Amino acid sequence: MDNRNNNNFENIKAKQKAIKTLLKKKNAVLLAHNYQRDEIQEIADFQGDSLELSVKANKTDADIIVFCGVRFMAESAAIMNPDKTVILPNENAGCPMVDMITAKDIVNLKADYPDAPVVAYVNTSAECKAVSDICCTSANAVKVVNSLSARRVIMVPDKNLGSYVQRFTDKKIINWPGFCPPHQRTVPEDIKALKEKYPGAVFVAHPESTPETIDAADHVSSTSGMYKFVRESAAKYFIIGTERGIMYKMKKENPDKIFISSNPGLVCPNMKKTHLDDIINSLENMENIIKIPENVRIPARKSIENMLAL
Ligand code: 13P
Ligand code: SF4
Repeated sequence: MDNRNNNNFENIKAKQKAIKTLLKKKNAVLLAHNYQRDEIQEIADFQGDSLELSVKANKTDADIIVFCGVRFMAESAAIMNPDKTVILPNENAGCPMVDMITAKDIVNLKADYPDAPVVAYVNTSAECKAVSDICCTSANAVKVVNSLSARRVIMVPDKNLGSYVQRFTDKKIINWPGFCPPHQRTVPEDIKALKEKYPGAVFVAHPESTPETIDAADHVSSTSGMYKFVRESAAKYFIIGTERGIMYKMKKENPDKIFISSNPGLVCPNMKKTHLDDIINSLENMENIIKIPENVRIPARKSIENMLAL
């Protein structure tokens, strides 16, 4: 019988078991972003936000890294680990924000603002990282910008992350008009309505949210920062302003707390593209291997290393 897309409980368990066996046999490690499907989070060797996953990918001694996330994340792992095999189980898992800027755009920005270093959000292509000075993630963007001596800093591609950082620095941020479509969907009216419905609820936002939504937030952090915040908070109700996948582990870790999504549309379709079957197929057949040409990988690696050095 063909079990593809047959996702009853027994089949999920059987596929998870098959993946665990394959990982062991091939000396592979499975890294999963916090937005991945529940059944993938359950079998991940390590789960985290973009920064934690970069660090983990850099430290593993496995031969193969199976990266359950989106392409730019697997690319970062391949940039840092040229002697390892990095697999992106579903090759179509991309990030629309990444496609909102090209390396040529960055080169033009540098010509316009020659004194300003370029901080590239990790949500960029390897080519963009290669022409940037330093990378950042949502967890360390403020720290990265404030570590630079220049008075003006170019931040690409997320205008919302750029304006969030602007709140915490005296430097002038030169922003690029990129954005994350799912995070745009939460608007302050959603928060107002939910806070009326759940008095005392705490609103937790991601820096990819619009400035108006950030203004309505009680706490702003990367996805892993949100786990820490809800764990330590005394509140009972939390309005979660990021991709719904994050709530799986939140509910598991905090059974007495209630988590409400800030907007029903807050789903990243790309983060949901990876299924258990993709992991099995790609590992069995050694498919969807991410390779970065050396002329791009070496300068891109410098930008990531500059970030990790902080
Ligand atoms: P973090 O997990 O690093 O907070 O990033 C969220 C995100 O949107 C990744 O694309
Ligand atoms: Fe890209 Fe937004 Fe999805 Fe993150 S949540 S991968 S930024 S589209």
